[in-house]
Amino acid sequence: MTRVIGIVSGKGGVGKTTVTANIGASLAFDYGNNVVAIDANVTSSSLGLYLGNYRFPATLNDILVGKASVADAVYAHPSGLKVIPSSHNSNGVAVNSKKMKEIIKFLKEYTDFILLDCPPTLGEETKAGIDSVDEVIIVANPTWASLLEAKRTIEYVKSKKKKILGLVLNNAELEPEDVEKVKKALKVDILAVIPPDDNVQKSTDKRVPVIHLYGRSRPARAYKKLLEKITGQTFPNRGIIERIIGWFD
Ligand SMILES: Nc1ncnc2c1ncn2[C@@H]1O[C@H](COP(=O)(O)OP(=O)(O)O)[C@@H](O)[C@H]1O
Ligand SMILES: [Mg+2]
Repeated sequence: MTRVIGIVSGKGGVGKTTVTANIGASLAFDYGNNVVAIDANVTSSSLGLYLGNYRFPATLNDILVGKASVADAVYAHPSGLKVIPSSHNSNGVAVNSKKMKEIIKFLKEYTDFILLDCPPTLGEETKAGIDSVDEVIIVANPTWASLLEAKRTIEYVKSKKKKILGLVLNNAELEPEDVEKVKKALKVDILAVIPPDDNVQKSTDKRVPVIHLYGRSRPARAYKKLLEKITGQTFPNRGIIERIIGWFD
């Protein structure tokens, strides 16, 4: 059974694309899954850029207007993760759930995981993205603005009867009691608290997610715990040093 997971937030710039790239590359490389990540963000795309290039011969936009087939717009990252990027010029193309569901149905034949990197703000495109998936991961920063938007998004996802895996608090340095407060206020499981770290941006610049480029850094270790929550399986190939470091996390 293919798991179709949307990565959603209220606000932009909170880390959705970074989360998508890290969990996608790890589900493929570390867990040996066949994974496709779709940049469902046709107005401000960046997933393709984070994992490869700026320009692609065919993108999601071309699929949506019927100019390309799904197979034309799938690109492989060295981790094994496959990406369907969006164009930087949307040309008025919008994501609609009917077309998105068709694309997902086709990909399901071949995949273990399909990840949808959704647009910021709870507009029509994000709603179409949420309608197309079965499970949702919410990403937020520990600011009131971001958490309020996350709460609104969680309510929408619940109204659509989609499964909420939980909240990823990104760029966050929080005491356990503050994490508990967020959990209670938003009535949602906290999947991970990913600390701020310059290595995240550095790794993005090198097109290799931090979980692989700086595997022992604090954000990488937080990502590994997140992957264990998503898969229900221990992170593979953890060396002895990493396991010892893990005791202190
Ligand atoms: N844990 C982190 N520490 C430091 N910088 C981060 C972290 N997570 C994300 N970033 C940076 O924040 C910016 C926005 O992240 P991005 O994933 O593009 O957000 P979104 O997709 O929600 O708009 C990027 O420059 C990214 O490198
Ligand atoms: Mg993004």
